[in-house]
Order: sequence, then C-alpha cells, then structure tokens
Amino acid sequence: MRQAGRSLPEYRALREGVDMLDACFDPEMLAEITIQPVRRHKVDAAVLFSDIVVPLKAAGVDIDIVPGTGPVVASPIRDIDAVKALPELAPDQVSRVADGVRLLVGSLGETPLIGFAGAPFTLASYLIEGGPSRNHEHTKALMHSEPAVWHALAGKLADIAITFLRAQLDAGVDAVQLFDSWAGALSVRDYREFVLPHSSKVLASVAEYGVPRIHFGVGTGELLTSMRDAGADVIGVDWRIPLDEAVRRLAVPGAPLPVVQGNLDPALLFASWPVLEDEVRRIAAEGRAAGGHIFNLGHGVLPSVDPEVLTRVVELVHELRP
Ligand code: CP3
Repeated sequence: MRQAGRSLPEYRALREGVDMLDACFDPEMLAEITIQPVRRHKVDAAVLFSDIVVPLKAAGVDIDIVPGTGPVVASPIRDIDAVKALPELAPDQVSRVADGVRLLVGSLGETPLIGFAGAPFTLASYLIEGGPSRNHEHTKALMHSEPAVWHALAGKLADIAITFLRAQLDAGVDAVQLFDSWAGALSVRDYREFVLPHSSKVLASVAEYGVPRIHFGVGTGELLTSMRDAGADVIGVDWRIPLDEAVRRLAVPGAPLPVVQGNLDPALLFASWPVLEDEVRRIAAEGRAAGGHIFNLGHGVLPSVDPEVLTRVVELVHELRP
C-alpha cells in the first residue's frame, strides 16, 4: 500500500531535498526506496516505489505531487478539447521506471515485486477535479452530463495504464495492482456503466502475462463483486467490512474461493499492542474463509506510524501463517 516507506527514517533521509516525482524517475533511488521496507520489516513482497500519477507526468501532463495534499494538476480536464489534448504514453517515456524494476528484480532475489497503476476512474478524478476531492463533483457531473467526453477520457487513461503496466511487466514485476482508490464514491450503477468497462480493458490487457492481478479501492464494500467482474484475480478490501464477509460477497457457486487482500485499519497501528494483536489475529482468522489471503493494511501507512509496530505486525502475521 501507498507510503509503506514513508514512516522510515532511512526513507526520509534519502528523499531529503528530492522531489517525489524526481525520485520516481531515478532508477537507483526508486530501487533503494522499494527495498527499504523489505529490509526492515521482512515483508513477503516489495511494492514498487512509484505513484499513480507517474505515467501522466511521463506522458507530459503538467501534474505535481504537493506534500500534504497529493496530486495537483495545472489545467483540469473538463471538455472534449482537453481530452483530445491529453497525450498518449509511449513505453520509452517510462523506461527509467523499467530500469528501476530491472535493478530490483536483480537484487530482490526470491522476494516478489508488485508493480501497479492507477485505474481510469481514480486518475480521471484527479485530472477533472484538478487535485484531491472529497465529493468528486466535477467528475460525476461530467460522467452524467457528457458521457461521450467521460468515456473518451477514461479510454485514454486506460491506454496509459496499460502501457505503464506492460512496461513494468516486461521489466519483470511478479504481480500487478490496479488502484481504483476512490471508486467507493460511486454507486454500483455508475461504477458498472462508467468505470467497469475501462478497468476491465486494463486488466484484460495484461492477462497474457499470467501474473496475479490485484484490484483495490477504498470504501468498496458495495462494489466488490463489480470489481471482481472487472477481471481481477485478487480483490483488495479496506477495513470497513470483515474479510469473511467480503469473501461471502465475492464467492461464486461452483468456482474456486475468492482470493483477498487486507484489511487492517491503518489507524489501529496507533492502538495499544494487545488491541492491535487481537485485530491482526481476527483478520488472519477471517482470511481463512478465502481461497487465499494476502495480509495487508486496508489502506496506506500513515506517515507518523512507529516503524517498530509495523515490524511487530509482520512478525505476528508470519507466526499465524498456515
Ligand atoms: O509503499 C509505497 O510507497 C508504495 C508506492 C506508492 C506511492 N503511491 C508512493 C507515494 C503507491 C502504491 C502509490 C499509489 C497512490 N498514489 C495511490 C493509490 C493507492 C492509495 O493509497 O489509495 C494514490 C491515490 C496516490 C496519490 C498520492 N500520492 C497521494 C494522495 C499522496 C499523498 C500526498 C501527501 O503528502 O499526503 C501521494 C504521495 C506519495 N506517493 C507518497 C509516497 C511515498 C508520499 C510522498 C512523501 O514522502 O511525501
């Protein structure tokens, strides 16, 4: 999940004076930052240090990550001319990310590397709103008032995500995660009409690599089956519903049990150890209802978390491993 490394002093030291997006295009630096949480916490997989806006920046979109705020776009995209002006992504524009992946594959040994991209809806929301948004009002208004403009934009963003994921897969990542972080803001009806076709296209376009495809969003209890229908192999679950309930919702009669990822509330890393330990045990137990369970947080690590607590959680999860 986002910002696993952000709580680490060694991460802060490396990033000192270096812009977030510059770090994402520096192969040695992105490789080192990716490895830091593996080295320290002994987690079972590494998450590529990048960001969902990296392919947009690479394609030439005027976008930055403002510390404490998030991605901010110079000119929001709200009409067909702006959609037409959105550049495509050529694979060589993310070659430095691919170089970083190759370095990592060489140095991670047996530890798998998870690559990722932002899904069309979440990327579109940043581009349409101009930055982070609580209500996604411009995005929803555009979707409903000008569906052709919406679908043109989401289609282009799907192509950008596909190119970015393929560049990572060609360089050797072992799994990919498609982040539709803000999809939970949508009704099921809107998700299925305006979002699912585009996310499906992204997930289908990387199927040929034969690696696990994880799909995640926040507040998506009502969307879980739709996100599964988009073609993911693993569904990420935030902390709002119990994991066994997510499995119940996702199960298809006669099909193998669903595989899930999640779902510790990141805020509980601030609770006392006995409370946190109970939570970790409960989640691990509930995860046994699934065909497979990747223990993870339900969303990103908060930057002020004590890294020692994260290490302890990883140790406990390893003890509980079946
Ligand atoms: O562990 C990791 O660091 C994994 C790499 C990762 C980052 N971003 C690095 C990052 C991943 C997987 C992401 C994905 C991402 N980025 C998502 C989808 C996942 C999610 O969390 O829902 C989203 C929505 C973004 C957009 C974004 N980038 C936000 C909202 C922020 C936070 C801005 C802030 O300062 O509060 C970022 C910045 C960002 N991306 C940081 C990191 C490590 C923090 C940069 C810093 O150190 O200041």
